[in-house]
Amino acid sequence: MDFAKKLTDYENVTTKSGVRILETKKDVDENDEKAKLENLLLEQANKAASDLFLGSGSRLFSTIKTLSEDSVVRDKDHLIDAKLYPTKLLPPSSIIEAGSLVVIFESFDSLNFVYATPGEVFHNKNGHFHHDDFIGKPYGCKIRSRNNRGFGFLYLLRPTPELWARSLNHRTQIVHELDSAIVIFNLNIRPNMVVCESGTGSGAMSHCIMRAIAPHGKLHTYEFNQMRAHTAKEEFKRNGVDHLVDVHWRDVCGKPSAESTSNDGRETKEGESLTFGSGGFDIGPAAADAIFLDLPEPWLAIPHAAHTIKPNGGLCSYSPCMEQTQRTCQAMRDYGFHSLKTIEVRLREHYVDEVELEKVPTFKLPRDMNVNNYVPGQSVSPVPSNNGESGPEAKDMEVDTNKKEEETKDSKEVKEPVSKKRMLGCRPFSNMRGHTAFLTFAKAGNKSYPDPLKE
Ligand SMILES: C[S@@+](CC[C@H](N)C(=O)[O-])C[C@H]1O[C@@H](n2cnc3c(N)ncnc32)[C@H](O)[C@@H]1O
Repeated sequence: MDFAKKLTDYENVTTKSGVRILETKKDVDENDEKAKLENLLLEQANKAASDLFLGSGSRLFSTIKTLSEDSVVRDKDHLIDAKLYPTKLLPPSSIIEAGSLVVIFESFDSLNFVYATPGEVFHNKNGHFHHDDFIGKPYGCKIRSRNNRGFGFLYLLRPTPELWARSLNHRTQIVHELDSAIVIFNLNIRPNMVVCESGTGSGAMSHCIMRAIAPHGKLHTYEFNQMRAHTAKEEFKRNGVDHLVDVHWRDVCGKPSAESTSNDGRETKEGESLTFGSGGFDIGPAAADAIFLDLPEPWLAIPHAAHTIKPNGGLCSYSPCMEQTQRTCQAMRDYGFHSLKTIEVRLREHYVDEVELEKVPTFKLPRDMNVNNYVPGQSVSPVPSNNGESGPEAKDMEVDTNKKEEETKDSKEVKEPVSKKRMLGCRPFSNMRGHTAFLTFAKAGNKSYPDPLKE
């Protein structure tokens, strides 16, 4: 995924002031577009850095001395200030390469994904789509099926955490984009933070957190189901985000002696990358800037969270039921968390499309006193006077009625033909997505809590 593009660290050449200098490559292959682009980017970064930090015609060149063994005098244009550009972040590639993750847009409500692999074919009801046709094409393009006379088509989209959540293989219930956005916002998760999450489940929320903490943050994600922990680890690697995450196969609610019953029958084999642990988050005291819990019994993880979170760090628990939320709130209070708030987020989507409306009448409306405008088809009779004769009111009414007829005639003459007008309309969808979960947010207090396992 784009946000996770591995940052390229150059062999650094350090100056006395601790500034690192990066060099553009000299012998770039003319056909190597990527290397040419890297060089161009670096040149521009160097230029910007020297303009900003050194000023034009700067003396800096003479003040920077490299500490590397093979101290080289460099041209001023090839200097970069590492404080500004500590690492080089390449712009995202817009071209699909072999191995790239591609989100496949089949229709408005149907998304899928593939890792572009030469020789493989993606099948759906619209036809057969060859991965070879994807490779070398830009993201966002439309691909036609090789069968069905090319009538079938799909769009190839660049993956984002939101599109990934809509296309991934669900191994569990997942946190959808509306809730994940609110969680990231309320926990104030920012670049380079350390965040803990449990359980990992299908890894949907993990990708959202990783985007927010990139480029140098770390997500510690805890899952006690061995198969899910392993699958998530492999998936993170394949999606190129593994440098932002550590997957822990661990029960975050349990005691160290607790046995996992959910390792799906798999024993930890020698050489396996994950070993089972039990009892909370294992990254040390006051180490996490934020913690996100999506667990069936989150209240059991709160004592561990209180030990692991930094003072004033943000905690969020995502629970579908109010009873879970209530127990979690109580545990949060018991462990010094404050500023508790529970919210439920509902999405109200709208269609915005063209509608055909009758034009608003601009002609004069007829005023007919004999017709009750409020009850269609009912006439108004003149009010009789007390002695049974038609009183002055009735006479007035007659005069009025005559006037009315004239007016009606006039207005009929100016009446415009009814025409329709096309315009943009906005209507809510007839049904609204239902309840997902209650999100409880809290802030950690200043008191440090001991590791519950050692109590
Ligand atoms: C609803 S899923 C999490 C989904 C995830 N947030 C996502 O967006 O894909 C809950 C996960 O928590 C795991 N889990 C439940 N209890 C746990 C515990 N005590 N320690 C670690 N993981 C646990 C379950 O195995 C399950 O995979």
